[in-house]
Amino acid sequence: MKTAEAYIDAEHTFGAHNYHPLPLVAVSAQGVWVTDVAGGQYLDCISSYSALNQGHSHPRIVRALTEQAGRLALTSRAFHNDVLPRFLEKLTDYTGFEVALPMNTGAEATETAVKLVRRWGYRVKGIPADKAEIIVCHRAFHGRTTAAIAMSSDEEYRRDFGPFPAGFVHVAHGDIAALAAAITPYTAGFVLEPIQGEGGVNVAPEGYLRAVAELCRQQNVLFVADEIQTGFGRTGARFACDHEDVQADVLVVGKALGGGVYPVSAVLASRALMSLFEPGSHGSTFGGNPLAAAVGIAALEVIVEEKLAEKAALRGHELVTGIRNLNLPSIREVRGRGLLIGIELTLPARSVAEALLAEGIIAKDTHETVLRLAPPLIITAEEIALIPPALARALSHAGG
Ligand SMILES: Cc1ncc(COP(=O)(O)O)c(C=O)c1O
Repeated sequence: MKTAEAYIDAEHTFGAHNYHPLPLVAVSAQGVWVTDVAGGQYLDCISSYSALNQGHSHPRIVRALTEQAGRLALTSRAFHNDVLPRFLEKLTDYTGFEVALPMNTGAEATETAVKLVRRWGYRVKGIPADKAEIIVCHRAFHGRTTAAIAMSSDEEYRRDFGPFPAGFVHVAHGDIAALAAAITPYTAGFVLEPIQGEGGVNVAPEGYLRAVAELCRQQNVLFVADEIQTGFGRTGARFACDHEDVQADVLVVGKALGGGVYPVSAVLASRALMSLFEPGSHGSTFGGNPLAAAVGIAALEVIVEEKLAEKAALRGHELVTGIRNLNLPSIREVRGRGLLIGIELTLPARSVAEALLAEGIIAKDTHETVLRLAPPLIITAEEIALIPPALARALSHAGG
């Protein structure tokens, strides 16, 4: 059997170095537990950045995947299949939107939303050709395509990748006055992560989402919620927008929609809005394929039937309380909602993540000093209780 170092060396030799992974080589995983090459067990508190809300290899989702793979996996949208309509019905029913447009990754879904907003800007709002503006937030993360990084202000994502698609205007996240000031007659939409995940688990002030929805309505601007990371129960509600009873004009989802086994993303909107895409105007070879559709159906069923949003609210509260009760000077702030938690530290979060790994917990830094904890939503109270003491030991090892 090869050692972890041998696998890491081989990956380093033959792969691009566009990531800085933790030095853990997984061979299997079930639920919240990951097993490495040496047989060690680790509690997954990353969940592949919220793609594993249902846990690793959920039996029902794996069954849907394997059964569908053996029956009909890919049709492209050149002709119909018997699974996609059921998936679309389930997804629209779950989200409360009239129509869904399935894609694969989050970045593609974001791009799709940008195209939809621009079309609406020209064809409905009457913005002159090529003048449409979309307002986005500082520290936003919407993916890694060139348009998605144009929507970010983070230099690490953007450096030497320009020129960028034009038409994006940046404002501070959570600042309604800044948004109001940025709106012009050319503004077609505002794209928002209700809680910024990659940006450091930044939660907007109470009332912000409602104010955004109201302002966008008044100003004839489409409100687009990117709930790729915050959706499907992660924050203790169906969607983070639900915390303020707000429905965006366009909803962008991904990650957990694929049940942790397959990339599935989608854009949701009204029939009137989505009709701006006519045949030939947008698409993807793999978007809405039968395998994705079968997985998406099972992923949604698990979220609903296992009450994952409710569980995230309970377990999140336990975890935040447990960490706050540590009362450690190296912990500046604990923030987030449900099981999307950011811990602002006085020391580099990467070194704490490495020390936590030695304690059997997988967590990752996001930005210099923020440690993100986002375990699968199926985590039990007993498993949650393992995290605060392990964090205390890791902080002490890392010098905190
Ligand atoms: C809010 C948000 N939008 C978009 C994306 C991009 O998704 P993907 O990596 O599937 O392209 C992410 C990924 O982390 C995300 O958190």
